[in-house]
Amino acid sequence: MAILEKHKVLEKNATLLLVFSFLVVTIGGIVEIAPLFYLENTIEKVKGVRPYSPLELAGRDIYIREGCYVCHSQMIRPMRDEVERYGHYSLAAESMYDHPFQWGSKRTGPDLARVGGRYSDEWHVAHFVDPQSVVPESVMPKYGFLKDRLIEPTHIEDLMAANRLVGVPYTEEMITAAHSDFRAQADPDDGDIDALAERYPGAQARNFDGEPGISEMDALIAYMQMLGTMVDFSTFTPDPDR
Ligand code: HEC
Repeated sequence: MAILEKHKVLEKNATLLLVFSFLVVTIGGIVEIAPLFYLENTIEKVKGVRPYSPLELAGRDIYIREGCYVCHSQMIRPMRDEVERYGHYSLAAESMYDHPFQWGSKRTGPDLARVGGRYSDEWHVAHFVDPQSVVPESVMPKYGFLKDRLIEPTHIEDLMAANRLVGVPYTEEMITAAHSDFRAQADPDDGDIDALAERYPGAQARNFDGEPGISEMDALIAYMQMLGTMVDFSTFTPDPDR
């Protein structure tokens, strides 16, 4: 056991052991990290995932402003109980345009990654105005004031440009059309929804809160109803190469 005899030298000399441990960790680290510098993207591309429409992006901003992430996560883990409750586990691609991401670390309320389409717009309005009116045991705060706050897309181009800066592929055309897309999605009579659908496939356009004018409630519900709906899981198959 000559090799073990040699190893004894290491084990008996703390400084030498430290130096060699450091060496091993360094090599291991380089092997893991170096390839990442040569990969353009580590996120598998998935059909259907697109940047958020201006109205959805505005709704997402309200979601962040109101701190909804404090009680809600947006990441379904691949565990059986979660998949049975919420649906297909979240794919990395589904949050690739989230800056900052909304995975969350606490669930006082349920995960929202696939809440889109689970409830009607009316349900959401009633729930935001008074959560206990639809879920009596709810501890969620009331957000009825969002209905009274009409919004203009004043800074939407800046928001989109900022997202583009960190890698969201908003085109010049998308940014130029931001105002009209914003309006068209909340009020289909007031805009070109075909152009909206072309730029943002699958974007749902309607009067979300049922009231005249575009309110923060419209934007937030547009965001809610989009969550988890971009990928068609009836046809999705994970990349077999990975
Ligand atoms: C204090 C914690 C808390 C905060 C903050 C909070 N929620 Fe909730 N939320 C809950 C709880 C608890 C439930 C489950 C009971 C219910 O449906 O009201 C819930 C339920 C929901 C549901 C229904 C989910 C489902 O699958 O049934 C939605 C949608 C929702 N919240 C959206 C939001 C949004 C958007 C915000 C921010 C504007 C927000 N929540 C802020 C605690 C919170």
